[in-house]
Amino acid sequence: MCGIVAYIGKKEAYPILIKGLHRLEYRGYDSAGIALINGKLNVYKCKGKVADLENFAKDKDKSGTLGMGHTRWATHGAPNDANAHPHVSQDGKITIIHNGIIENYHPLKEGLKSRGHVFTSDTDTEVLAHLIEDIQKNENCDLAEAVRIALNEVIGAYAIVVISQEEPNQLIGAKKGSPMVVGVGDDEFFIASDATPIVEHTKNVVYLEDEEIAIIRRGEELKIKTIKNKNKTPYVQELEMQLEALEKGGYEHFMLKEIYEQPRSIKDTMRGRLDEEKLKAGLGGLRNYQQRMLNADRFIIVACGTSWHAGLVGEYLIEDLARIPVEVEYASEFRYRNPIITEKDVVIAISQSGETADTLAAIELAKSKGALIIGICNVVGSTIPRTTHAGSYTHAGPEIGVASTKAFTSQVTVLTMMAISLGYNKGTITEARYRQLVNELEAIPSKVEMALKANDQIKYIASLFKDARNFLYLGRGYNFPVALEGALKLKEISYIHAEGYPAAEMKHGPIALIDEEMPVVFIATKKGAYEKVVSNIQEVKARKGKIIAIVTEGDTTVKSMADFVIEIPDTEEELVPLLSAIPLQLLSYHIAVMRGCNVDQPRNLAKAVTVE
Ligand code: G6P
Repeated sequence: MCGIVAYIGKKEAYPILIKGLHRLEYRGYDSAGIALINGKLNVYKCKGKVADLENFAKDKDKSGTLGMGHTRWATHGAPNDANAHPHVSQDGKITIIHNGIIENYHPLKEGLKSRGHVFTSDTDTEVLAHLIEDIQKNENCDLAEAVRIALNEVIGAYAIVVISQEEPNQLIGAKKGSPMVVGVGDDEFFIASDATPIVEHTKNVVYLEDEEIAIIRRGEELKIKTIKNKNKTPYVQELEMQLEALEKGGYEHFMLKEIYEQPRSIKDTMRGRLDEEKLKAGLGGLRNYQQRMLNADRFIIVACGTSWHAGLVGEYLIEDLARIPVEVEYASEFRYRNPIITEKDVVIAISQSGETADTLAAIELAKSKGALIIGICNVVGSTIPRTTHAGSYTHAGPEIGVASTKAFTSQVTVLTMMAISLGYNKGTITEARYRQLVNELEAIPSKVEMALKANDQIKYIASLFKDARNFLYLGRGYNFPVALEGALKLKEISYIHAEGYPAAEMKHGPIALIDEEMPVVFIATKKGAYEKVVSNIQEVKARKGKIIAIVTEGDTTVKSMADFVIEIPDTEEELVPLLSAIPLQLLSYHIAVMRGCNVDQPRNLAKAVTVE
């Protein structure tokens, strides 16, 4: 969703900010803007992409060593030039960029209007700019103090950066609910909504906590205080992120790069955590909570989107191997339906970004009822891992493509290790089975490599089906969540309507859709309910549907029925999703490219959904 980057130092700010905005593009946005101070304040903003902003600002004054930039994903007000950030105060001297939502903006706005303020946008953010100006004038205080007082009046979530033409040596950032990180360089500072715009300038960062304000003045050390006026000592951490992870590295799109990274990202997820010899499939971060997990009445997995699909695979794994009951919940539903949660429950929150608002709210709810909260997140230092009792990072590396690929397989890898370890320690799987699964898991990265070899064939299949208007994805058992994920990938990036279903459920509705125009993707790997899936394939074939089947290598039965088969290596049934997801990622990728879609930044979607 919205992205923030700001700079104060000795260099010209504009190139740093534009580069930073490009780095933030992956989050999803529909307008962009920039503010620079060099004697006077210049604000340039427009609907569209960062490239449109660059074009717009081409012949304008872009000088200044203090500035900030923003990418906006519309919430209050349409995506247009007026609603784009930065927003300025009534006197045009103070300007602000904002991620999040000010819930009480309406009464604040009415109050300001009655005091003569006139607004030029529909946003909640503009209200905050005016409020800060109003406070500064009434209280006769400096900008930092006005920001602090204003934030005490605000209800909602925010990450803001504020600068003022009257105080041109100062950058102010503050956050609550939305993430904010400060980069500390040599005589220069950066503020951003995540570390991606900062990493090429400095690896020293400070993550702000909720209700903290960073006050950055030229020639001074970074100061942090709370909105209650308590001074805090900045805790400087070193970023682990590598710059190469943010570049396409020769691939046409980030999504393709990330699909191809999976042999390595899965290995990174397992690194140091898996050892068949020592009977180890443990997750260090959970060691102290193992007993409580083993004694749990039930696990509740909360997540959204692709992470929810990983959670469904987790349900199959944990129930199968550790015999602990598991429920998988959409975080957005869970938080609003008065769920029954007890102290004997373990809640597992899965989130790539670690920032998803609904998942965060579900965690807070479960925490208040005494459940143990475990996080499975990718972005190090993000909000969810800092809110949970314990957890495991997936270590998949930055995922820039909006459609999640390598994060999914890494989440499933963590869940697999968790289930194997719980099963062994609970005695629900034998030592021999344990060894077998650990061994096989170790072999998965090279099997993913083999699955990727079908790329050209998948590209060919994509060329035949790129104009389809609907797709059906069917699978059973461990492959049912994979069917859902395959359908989600296709609709996210190609805008083709796609549905995932448990194959047997097809008879209860979707079968009515099947005719010679309808491509049906079956995930029909050996084991599990293979024979049943074969019957389902027959049912589609009888109705002339076009069958694309993902099969285990060497399969001849499905081959004789399907229009196209894509082979993946054989593996243990429990590990199949780690392989069967791969061809589906490639299929949606190629279809989207052939349809001319913006694969990495699909319309309307955001990488981290920080609003509910
Ligand atoms: C958005 C993204 C999806 C992601 C979902 C959950 O919709 O576009 O790719 O699966 O949010 O995000 P999370 O960061 O919590 O995994």
